[in-house]
Amino acid sequence: MNVLIIGSGGREHALAWKLAQSKLITNLFTTPGNAGTEQVGKNVALNAGDFDIIRNFVLENDINMVIVGPEAPLVAGFHDYFLNDEQLKNIPVIGPVKQAAMLEGSKDFAKEFMKKYNIPTGSFKTFDKYKITQAFQFLETLKPPYVLKADGLAAGKGVLICESLEQAKGELKEMLENAKFGEASKKVVIEEFLDGIELSAFVLTDGNSYKILPSAKDYKRIGEGDTGLNTGGMGSISPVPFADKTFMDKVEQRIIKPTIEGLKNEGIVYKGFIFFGLINVAGNPYVIEYNVRMGDPEAESVIPRIKSDLMELFEGVAYGNLDEKAIEIDDRYNAAIFLVSGGYPGTYEKGKEISGLDKAEGSILFHAGTIRDKESGKVKTSGGRVIAISSFGDSMEEALEKSYKNAEIINFDGKYFRKDLGKDLV
Ligand code: AMP
Ligand code: GLY
Repeated sequence: MNVLIIGSGGREHALAWKLAQSKLITNLFTTPGNAGTEQVGKNVALNAGDFDIIRNFVLENDINMVIVGPEAPLVAGFHDYFLNDEQLKNIPVIGPVKQAAMLEGSKDFAKEFMKKYNIPTGSFKTFDKYKITQAFQFLETLKPPYVLKADGLAAGKGVLICESLEQAKGELKEMLENAKFGEASKKVVIEEFLDGIELSAFVLTDGNSYKILPSAKDYKRIGEGDTGLNTGGMGSISPVPFADKTFMDKVEQRIIKPTIEGLKNEGIVYKGFIFFGLINVAGNPYVIEYNVRMGDPEAESVIPRIKSDLMELFEGVAYGNLDEKAIEIDDRYNAAIFLVSGGYPGTYEKGKEISGLDKAEGSILFHAGTIRDKESGKVKTSGGRVIAISSFGDSMEEALEKSYKNAEIINFDGKYFRKDLGKDLV
């Protein structure tokens, strides 16, 4: 099989690293990829936003499957483009069609879906700029803090948690009337605040059956003790110690099953990953959000724990026989710690040489914002999140210890990482 992966982050390197181990793979391409994906396959410079360019590459290189890492192409109809093209329609895409990608692309769509199928989530109402008076009235019926969510994709920045009613009203006005998040905040979901600890759950589905992947905890804030600005994610730990069998059974019965059934009932054939952003409220799981892809940095701790051939599972997704495939999971813990560029998630410099990559032992290094300099052959930083250091351990502490050891060995100018991962879980 010739496979094309779309994306350039740590998630895509983790997917490429895993697929490269499959006996079913002949050629593995990633676009645009990074200095990590090129160690396990070939990088190709294509504009993934231009589906015609992808089409040409797929046909010219005899690609048999396309795996979409990030949400943006899916929300833009990448999979539908394949289904609607005579020459592409039999080439499977891992990642849902546009209508299903709305689970991530529109908070309002996701909330209405959960309401319809009785999936536990915070109560909510959605407003546009013509309903601002009603929105203010609704806010007045709630208790602080107030949760405001831009309906559309806003690069993870579209959710505001406001401590006072006055602040909430001000922000709501900014979002609806002054397009604080552009098109994304044309509609705003006002949601009940849920108090608990967050975690991520994942399934891979062929639209009919599903496989539950290991749970993971993501660390979103830049600062220790979960302070400061939101980032793409500073690291992840899998499994989540409190997500025991009792809890995960509730997740499956109350959330996963009704989601899969709901999609089927809507006539949507969902093929790909579903990411459930969950919150544990006194032992009961609630959905904070859906994503229509793997998480990043969750992939960097979850994918290495899948012992089975991932390509076989993807074939099950593509050909609708996932129920015939077995999935075997490594029992050990995995901890992935992100090294990021100084200044991230604000402004930061790129092009810093990375040293120590060959001295880091006992971990898997998943590249994200890295590039290999063509002239010198050296690996340099090219983004905010640079490298995820992923390690196994019989305990969470052991996994963390190994990753932290290598976090000291790998260096670049301005390197920063959080030193408190896992402390909230013991
Ligand atoms: P989202 O983009 O929907 O995942 O929201 C971003 C972050 O806002 C989440 O990871 C939570 O930390 C927080 N959040 C979102 N919705 C709620 C809620 N209803 N109650 C408490 N926190 C929330
Ligand atoms: N780790 C959160 C995300 O991938 O959106």
